[in-house]
This record gives sequence, C-alpha cells and structure tokens, in this order.
Amino acid sequence: MVKVLFVCLGNICRSPTAEGVFRKLVNESRLSRQIAIDSAGTHAYHIGESPDERAQDAAARRGIDLSGLRGRQATPADLEEFDYVLAMDRENLRNLQSIALPHQQEKIHLFLDFAQDNAHQEVPDPYFGGRHGFDKVLDMIEEAAGGLLADIRQRF
Ligand code: 4NP
Repeated sequence: MVKVLFVCLGNICRSPTAEGVFRKLVNESRLSRQIAIDSAGTHAYHIGESPDERAQDAAARRGIDLSGLRGRQATPADLEEFDYVLAMDRENLRNLQSIALPHQQEKIHLFLDFAQDNAHQEVPDPYFGGRHGFDKVLDMIEEAAGGLLADIRQRF
C-alpha cells in the first residue's frame, strides 16, 4: 500500500480538493486497493469542518463529491505513516519540514513539482478570493495528479 497525504493550511479548500481529484483518478485507474489517500491542514482552524462550499461546488461540477470529508490537522505521526506528503504552497512545505525528522524530509514535496507544465510551483490559497479561484485550483491540481500517479507507478 502506498500512502499519499495532501496538505494545505486549513484542510477545507485545496487539500480536500486534491484528495477528491486524486481519488477519482486512482479509482478510474483501478488502483484504489494499492493507494491510500488523505488530506490535512497545518493549522487547527477548521478541524471537523466540511470542505468550503465553494470548493465543494467547483468539485461537484467536475463530478467529484467532497461532502464526506472533514478537516483535520497534520501530526508528526503522519510524517511516519505516509509515503508522500504533498504541500500545496511553500509555507505549508516549510511547516511540514519543521516538524519532520531527518529521515522523513525526503517524503515532503511541493505537489505541483509533479505537474508536467511547471509554470506554477504553488497552488494559491483561494479562501479570501472569489469562486473563480476554486476552478483555477482544480485546474492546477488536475494537472499535477497525473504526474503524481506516474511517479507512484514508477517507484512502487
Ligand atoms: P486551504 O484554505 O488552506 O486551502 O484549506 C484556507 C482555509 C482557511 C483559511 C485559510 C486558507 N483561514 O485562514 O481560515
């Protein structure tokens, strides 16, 4: 079993979106028994909450249901348990690196490092913007999801 954790700040916008997009791809690739997927936030603001309505709506328009997800905070144990710990932006990356032990550092990446097109390195925080930002987040995540699956297939 390969375990993948997506991490953003609040775990109500970007990382649950990435969890939903990647789960759909993994299911379509018939790999759901080989790849486990979860998401978490670096902060505790939204523990137990459903994903942001705007994130749920944007995902639903692409056939992805985020309604069952609930916010949780990333823990040091996650860095031991997961094989890929994927940060949405550099601030998330730095926060994860600061709690990781030396042997765990290599599991932590910027998620967009897996995108073919490397025009962007960070998924911008859509929380304080409009609905358009959530579609842009989905576009960027969909772009990187295929590259991530290819990396997993090659390594495991
Ligand atoms: P996320 O978005 O990190 O993509 O889940 C945010 C959600 C909440 C806040 C910031 C970003 N907040 O400041 O409460």
